[in-house]
Amino acid sequence: MGYRVAVVGATGAVGQEMLKTLEERAFPADDVIALASERSAGQSVSFGENNELKVQDLAKFDFKGIDIVMSSPGAAVSAQHSPRAAQAGAVVIDNTSQFRMDPDVPLVVPEVNPDALAGYSRRNIVANPNCSTIQMVLALKPLHDLAEIKRVVVATYQSVSGGGKEAMDELFNQTRGIYVNDPMTKEVFTKQIAFNVIPHIDSFMEDGATKEEWKMMVETKKILDPAIKVSATCVRVPVFIGHAEAVNLEFETPISAADARAALRDQPGISVIDHRADEGYVTPAECAGEDLVYVSRIREDPTVDYGLSLWVVSDNLRKGAALNAVQIAELLTEEYL
Ligand SMILES: NC(=O)c1ccc[n+]([C@@H]2O[C@H](COP(=O)([O-])OP(=O)(O)OC[C@H]3O[C@@H](n4cnc5c(N)ncnc54)[C@H](OP(=O)(O)O)[C@@H]3O)[C@@H](O)[C@H]2O)c1
Repeated sequence: MGYRVAVVGATGAVGQEMLKTLEERAFPADDVIALASERSAGQSVSFGENNELKVQDLAKFDFKGIDIVMSSPGAAVSAQHSPRAAQAGAVVIDNTSQFRMDPDVPLVVPEVNPDALAGYSRRNIVANPNCSTIQMVLALKPLHDLAEIKRVVVATYQSVSGGGKEAMDELFNQTRGIYVNDPMTKEVFTKQIAFNVIPHIDSFMEDGATKEEWKMMVETKKILDPAIKVSATCVRVPVFIGHAEAVNLEFETPISAADARAALRDQPGISVIDHRADEGYVTPAECAGEDLVYVSRIREDPTVDYGLSLWVVSDNLRKGAALNAVQIAELLTEEYL
């Protein structure tokens, strides 16, 4: 028997990737329903090579009979509609920041904390972590198992697709505009993003950190270990797809670069590409469309006791969003539904 699956935000950057991933992985769905705002109702979205789905208006949709909802319409919309879908009997896998820190909602990366998924039944909602968190905790997991991580200092280089389809359009239009001498327009980003970098993602908090930086800290604690300290600086860069992270780690016990490399090689979901040579590392341009999290530049940091530095890259729309959500759905169907 197949499942009835609804994709909320189906016209967006994550929703489109979600449909692609469900189809590519042959998720056992009898029926897939595309939902978005009333602005897109009636439009078609592709599902696989040969299928088109008519988009329906989320506000008018009745979730009765739906088994699984994959939701990415933004936090405010999820706040309203994810509980409504859960009450109608569906299990919601929510991609927004709305429920991630709710103690009754599991925050899951299947290769890292699959057992947490058992808590889904408390609210019938599972949260997908932030894209930057997912790729980082996947790389941290085998290292934490090996030598216990005390502190993480991370600087991110996040692509514009993390801000959705309008953010991608803004990078394209500004870049084109600079070449043809058009006046600069800025609607999504606070500063020019073309040929620039912006150390500001999401809103500022009272302590001076941004909310994106806060998410990396609290989500890492919730998924991996509350004792891990995280200091993050999150930066938007003029790249369309793929987030990169320069990660510096301090451990409780000694760990060599060779041991770290071996442990990372054994971790499902990770690919180690680490040669000290030209092209011996991965960049965002190479990871777009790929499922894995790539780890490169693994080296010891002699400036602290038991320190390591690494470079972590992944497609933020795949493992950072759609793939992780579909993997959660697969785990749900295999173990719980
Ligand atoms: N992009 C990433 O890498 C990433 C990663 C993890 C999580 N997320 C989260 O996922 C969410 C969506 O991100 P995105 O990048 O896909 O954004 P996006 O490209 O801007 O797409 C937003 C989607 O939400 C729909 N939507 C907006 N308002 C709605 C409403 N009132 N009712 C129903 N649908 C509505 C849009 O439909 P219309 O086309 O009809 O407006 C569109 O399908 C955000 O919360 C984001 O934080 C994104």
